[in-house]
Amino acid sequence: MSSRFSNQVAVVFGAGRGIGEAIASRLSREGAKVVVIDILKNKVDELKLKIEENGGEVEAFQIDISEEKKVNQCIDHIVKSNLKIDVLVNSVGIVGPSNCEIEDYDLKDFLQVLNVNLVGAFNISKAVVPIMKKNNYGRILHISSIAGKEGNPGMIGYSSSKSALIGFVKSLGKELAQTNITVNGIAPALISSEMNTDTDPKMLEYMIEKIPMRRTGTVDEVASLCAWICSREASFNTGAIFDISGGRATY
Ligand SMILES: NC(=O)c1ccc[n+]([C@@H]2O[C@H](COP(=O)([O-])OP(=O)(O)OC[C@H]3O[C@@H](n4cnc5c(N)ncnc54)[C@H](O)[C@@H]3O)[C@@H](O)[C@H]2O)c1
Repeated sequence: MSSRFSNQVAVVFGAGRGIGEAIASRLSREGAKVVVIDILKNKVDELKLKIEENGGEVEAFQIDISEEKKVNQCIDHIVKSNLKIDVLVNSVGIVGPSNCEIEDYDLKDFLQVLNVNLVGAFNISKAVVPIMKKNNYGRILHISSIAGKEGNPGMIGYSSSKSALIGFVKSLGKELAQTNITVNGIAPALISSEMNTDTDPKMLEYMIEKIPMRRTGTVDEVASLCAWICSREASFNTGAIFDISGGRATY
């Protein structure tokens, strides 16, 4: 298992912390060269050091995923030195306002959440697909959310962006189905990470109550599922949304 990704290049957006960091670390431990990207420069620099200390090969970049031009420049740069990208993971996400009813929800906030969570996914997928097509292989994984399947009250921007991301995965998965590139997503319920630090405690309580296992998930549990989805083993799955929800998801 430790060489599942040997000779592969994996690009992980949102790798600065949380789920993205856990996925990048896992792919590195399993032999991938990882390119870790985040808007938080210090976080990806720290992760780069950690991976190097563990003997992994890694590059780090600071990018805002919603800036198309910068994303394109970054991907060009990665391909110049690595010649290919086997795996693309998108773990970027912002919550935006929470426990906020629509009357109080600013359009500016709504658009910002869509710009990062949805337009960002478009930018990086569009940049990477031609490279994967040339190489006749690819695994693309976007992190959606149970909020996108069920809708969380008081989080209209986040829930809408994650629903749209599910449509995006299903559409692109079908579009690329005959190219040897798979496109999948996951829909986690509440996972312990820094993302939830600013979420209203009432919202967190509501979300844990809805999980039959009555606990939050861990980033390592998520990374474990993602590593399989991103591996060669997952060869007959595309356009799918995998649940990781402690029993919350029922469809
Ligand atoms: N934690 C949860 O409970 C949970 C549940 C369901 C889905 N998710 C989704 O999983 C993904 C990862 O979540 P997490 O819990 O690790 O959150 P997190 O906030 O710890 O990580 C998200 C990362 O995205 C980066 N980021 C934010 N805006 C960016 C931008 N414009 N450009 C580039 N990078 C940017 C952040 O700096 C951060 O490192 C997100 O898409 C989130 O919506 C999380």
